[in-house]
Amino acid sequence: MNGLQILGTGRALPDHITTNDDLAKLVETNDEWIVSRTGIRERRFAREGESLTQFAVEAAQKALERAGLAPEDIGLCLMATVTPDCITPAQSCLVHQALHLPEDCPAFDLSAGCTGFLYAMETAAALLPRMSRPYALLIGGELLSRIVDMSDRSTCILFGDGVGAAVVKTTEDAPWFSKLGTRGEKDILWAPGPGNHPAWLHMSGQDVFKFALETVPKLARELLDQAGLDKDQVDWYVPHQANHRIVESVAKRLKVPLSKFYENIALYGNTSAGTIPIALDEMAEQGLLRGGQWIMCLGFGAGLTWGGALFQWQDKEEK
Ligand code: COA
Repeated sequence: MNGLQILGTGRALPDHITTNDDLAKLVETNDEWIVSRTGIRERRFAREGESLTQFAVEAAQKALERAGLAPEDIGLCLMATVTPDCITPAQSCLVHQALHLPEDCPAFDLSAGCTGFLYAMETAAALLPRMSRPYALLIGGELLSRIVDMSDRSTCILFGDGVGAAVVKTTEDAPWFSKLGTRGEKDILWAPGPGNHPAWLHMSGQDVFKFALETVPKLARELLDQAGLDKDQVDWYVPHQANHRIVESVAKRLKVPLSKFYENIALYGNTSAGTIPIALDEMAEQGLLRGGQWIMCLGFGAGLTWGGALFQWQDKEEK
């Protein structure tokens, strides 16, 4: 079974913070409503002139540095995003150019909504053994502020901008269990294509909530079954950060203490494909991830898509 080892992670977020009180100046809402319904207290929005490329490159450079690798070591570059700077070339190609990745390192984007980083991990696990070098650069993230209608209080309070990255290598001996799925369904969460103005994101919040609770607990149980593990043997659950109440309900359904679920939604809101790699990077930085621990990442989002990965964290061998 081909799995991945995460060798280094990185993240980059705009420094401009928008609080709930700031949003209450734009739409009819308030801090109490937003915190109690979502758990979000603030989020980052990129300034005009800032680009997804710059955050993606910054996150990627940190991940490379922590992995102790150089751009010329990378054999595959994938970026999960729904808010690329250009329709074409792909966002990953813009990163490829900025980092001077080798020409025999293919780069392409994945559009799987908030599940994007899990789709990227699974794609890398499958493709890396066929690439010229055994290391992949995986990036997930968005500038969702570019497609969110700041006059729509049902969406503008939820989303934020940010990017996470990981440098991974393929391994045959490390345990790696994963599952991806799609329930093709446009109208619950969608944004129009190029040429359609305005290009705002549309969402039926309650349907997304329902979808998450229908799929995520089941997915977690399936991953545990695949691995032959009990839910209590998992050291950290790393859920997509969409709404604290969704995480709470998933934890309750799985009968797992909420303290085992890593959460940072209060600070960043939902950065879509960015949430899981940003969380992993914060966890690594805080020393929460140690060799031998079982980690379960769980995602869901537009598509509708869902996906999860259960793996054992491995400390990087010192060079
Ligand atoms: N501030 C104040 N009131 C608001 C509001 C806001 N920002 N947004 C909506 N409301 C109002 C609604 O208009 C509605 O008013 P009404 O009862 O007078 O019609 C009321 O609050 C309840 O709205 P409802 O949509 O039922 O709230 P909710 O409890 O479902 O919470 C979400 C809304 C969006 C927070 C919630 O559905 C959610 O988080 N869903 C998941 C979304 C998600 O995760 N998306 C990304 C997936 S990857």
